[in-house]
Amino acid sequence: MTTSSSGETYDFVVVANRLPVDSVSQPDGSSGWRMSPGGLVAALEPLMKASDGAWVGWPGAPDVELDPFEHEGIRMVPIALNGEEIENYYEGFSNDTLWPLYHDVIAQPGYHREWWEAYVAVNRRFAEAAARISDTGATVWVHDYQLQLVPGMLRETRPDLTIGFFNHIPFPAYGIFSQLPWRRQIISGLLGADIIGFQRVADAGNFSRAVRRLFGYETKGTRVWVPVGDSSDETTGDRSSVRGAPVRRVIARAFPISIDATSYVELAGQPEVQARARQIREELGNPKTIMLGVDRLDYTKGIGHRLKAFGELLAEHRVDVEDVTLVQVASPSRERVASYMQLRDEIELTVGRINGDYGSIGHTAINYLHQGYPREEMVALYLAADIMLVTALRDGMNLVAKEYVATRADLGGVLILSEFAGASDDLRQALLINPHDIDGVKDAIIAAIDMPHAERRRRMRALRKRVLENDVVKWSRVFLDELAHASTSHPVSHEHPEERK
Ligand code: F6P
Repeated sequence: MTTSSSGETYDFVVVANRLPVDSVSQPDGSSGWRMSPGGLVAALEPLMKASDGAWVGWPGAPDVELDPFEHEGIRMVPIALNGEEIENYYEGFSNDTLWPLYHDVIAQPGYHREWWEAYVAVNRRFAEAAARISDTGATVWVHDYQLQLVPGMLRETRPDLTIGFFNHIPFPAYGIFSQLPWRRQIISGLLGADIIGFQRVADAGNFSRAVRRLFGYETKGTRVWVPVGDSSDETTGDRSSVRGAPVRRVIARAFPISIDATSYVELAGQPEVQARARQIREELGNPKTIMLGVDRLDYTKGIGHRLKAFGELLAEHRVDVEDVTLVQVASPSRERVASYMQLRDEIELTVGRINGDYGSIGHTAINYLHQGYPREEMVALYLAADIMLVTALRDGMNLVAKEYVATRADLGGVLILSEFAGASDDLRQALLINPHDIDGVKDAIIAAIDMPHAERRRRMRALRKRVLENDVVKWSRVFLDELAHASTSHPVSHEHPEERK
């Protein structure tokens, strides 16, 4: 940490919509902070501690004006948002425009100019905070779709910085992305980074195509050449790079994210967690097969599709409620956004109908839990579950699939995984499904129920190898190594891209 006249500055700055802490009430009535359980925190925590790092983010509630503070060795730099900004920037533009648009328009995105204005203003606040606390030549790593303008804003005011961006959600095909009235500004914002990371190769390809279509910049493989100080007209779309003009090289490529696998392995090995898993099975009446779904209650997760498949299997007597039960954990999310309220009503209606139609005294078809749980309880549920159902209609990665696999050191359990989740690129030994094909999902459930022991073990062994070898620590190391390399490899040049082989 360096102290300048304007305050403390840092060598490594993470910028994300949320701070990695949750506010908790202490027994004495005062409030404090608890580290949030996400994988990103687990990956970055050691790096932040070792490399003099700070984390810029929103504390998660309206009008919380706080000075920077330290928690568990990490410097937190809170960004305050008022109620109107939460409505327009977070619930509006981030989660009712970009979220549905980037998930292939599963729900209709809203395009509202006041949401966009709030998005610009809040991105600027994050960028200004990051610029203020970054040491000369520092590395800044910006995360996710809520903050896509931050790299460009930072590049303008702090060209000395090395800037990385990682998009945790999908990046859509140009035919969809082009709906966005502010598509050029978003691409410009992202191109402020030295490295733009995506979950899947296809996402990076979609991004490069958008760059070519909207700006005409040269791209080759994972490289994009961005003219430096380009002042052509923002509105015409005609911006091809001129031979001999200085260009800056930007890398856009896939860095599939993972989980802190060892912490799941360790928890799964704890006798108390294993005892809790046995207790869960008993409390469910020791059915032959427990199926599990774990999701934020989000329309991208395909929860309705899996309920439909299970309901039909019960109706057709292909499974019996005494033998097979589904536990669906649907943690509350974005509850003030209309499409999420509507989804909750739909899911709860469907659960009620299936339970009413097929349940019996002592046997509930679906155990529906609209709650979030601590990691220990989740691991116990993973251990208790014979089949894990991941039926996302579109998902950047889906870390639940990886958590289930990491947990099953006993090589038990079958993963049913949507091919529309990024995790399916890697986890090829899962039973891969198209969630829109309800008959296919039903057949996969039956195949999982009937799968011979040896096949379960063989598949799970291969899946575990992938997850344990590629954990989130490796993910962040690969990203940051590439970022360090990008910043030292002469990103600004007068060569025309075609001359660079
Ligand atoms: O990965 C998508 C994401 O929006 C993350 O940015 C976020 O941490 C998570 O889902 C939960 O969403 P929210 O912050 O809106 O509760």
